[in-house]
Amino acid sequence: MTRVFSGIKPTGHLTLGNYLGAMRQWAAVDQHRSDALFCVVDLHALTVDHDPARVRRLSRQAATLLLAAGLDPELCTLFVQSHVDEHARLSYVLECVATDGEMRRMIQYREKAARERERGGSVRLSLLTYPVLMAADILAYGADEVPVGDDQAQHVELTRDLALRFNQRYGGTFVVPRATVPKVAARVMNLQDPASKMGKSDDSGPGIVYLLDEPEVVRKKVGRAVTDSGRDVVYDRAERPGVANLLEILAACTGGEPDALAGAYASYGQLKKDTAEAVVEVLRPVRARHRELCADPGFVERVLRAGAEKARAMARPTVDAAYRAIGLLPPV
Ligand code: TYM
Repeated sequence: MTRVFSGIKPTGHLTLGNYLGAMRQWAAVDQHRSDALFCVVDLHALTVDHDPARVRRLSRQAATLLLAAGLDPELCTLFVQSHVDEHARLSYVLECVATDGEMRRMIQYREKAARERERGGSVRLSLLTYPVLMAADILAYGADEVPVGDDQAQHVELTRDLALRFNQRYGGTFVVPRATVPKVAARVMNLQDPASKMGKSDDSGPGIVYLLDEPEVVRKKVGRAVTDSGRDVVYDRAERPGVANLLEILAACTGGEPDALAGAYASYGQLKKDTAEAVVEVLRPVRARHRELCADPGFVERVLRAGAEKARAMARPTVDAAYRAIGLLPPV
């Protein structure tokens, strides 16, 4: 059976981008057709300036929202990264096959490091090594597929390189995974700045739809989305990024095609109204289920405890094998 692994980082409230680009496929497709693991990757949240209490709160919230979005603990394994030591254990060994040049070429590192420096802050070493930990997340479980949004494809590519290099040098140890990216909404853009990704760690609130936003707030944010000059509705990502973003969101929410949908609209106003309603409808059951789950925090805890136990047992043999292959003396 195909093994699937993916993760989400608790650095902010989860967004419509997270949902359409990743979580929805995990719940609707991946957990049904594969042996799937989904992880709240809290260690990754420590790579930038953070508030400990907030990271803890967001980790619990992310796990709750993943269940609210439809992950079923009977079908998949849901857990928190720091509850399974194997991730950090394997990350170190993979640092010994990765190079610093490779890390410095990663787009996300370059963007985030530049932003930190602009703010006058320093860059944590863990931000540079972040993709190695991500590779460890994936390789520890022998995942074949990694369902992610477009922005994570480069990291999965690096994971492949590290797996191949390790296997070549030290013997076949890792499954070489591949990224799977959704056809529509693989990169949902910020409604106020359609040149930038809708990211949960960004500060621009009005351009980001959060999964827990009230319907009225969603309507306001979509209604005020930046559109392009010109008035006809056409799907053109390069020339009309604002309208293209709305069409993609609408398509992802309704199951249509952005190109075909464009033909159905004569004005931006109606497109915004319909997009807002489609988003409200998609988020409605998630918000309702989230409310129910918040009333039963013991349930979420039990899921995470069982998930970590299962994950540990799955990762251990591969990480032990990697330790032996690279030349570490087995414990006596
Ligand atoms: P993260 O937490 O930024 O995002 C979680 C998932 O949501 C997708 N995503 C988007 N998709 C479309 N449009 C957007 N605007 C958008 N924003 C986010 C991301 O592509 C991702 O699939 N490094 C990862 C977390 C991670 C991971 C892993 C993922 C750590 N280890 C191992 C897969 C496998 C990250 O920061 O995702």
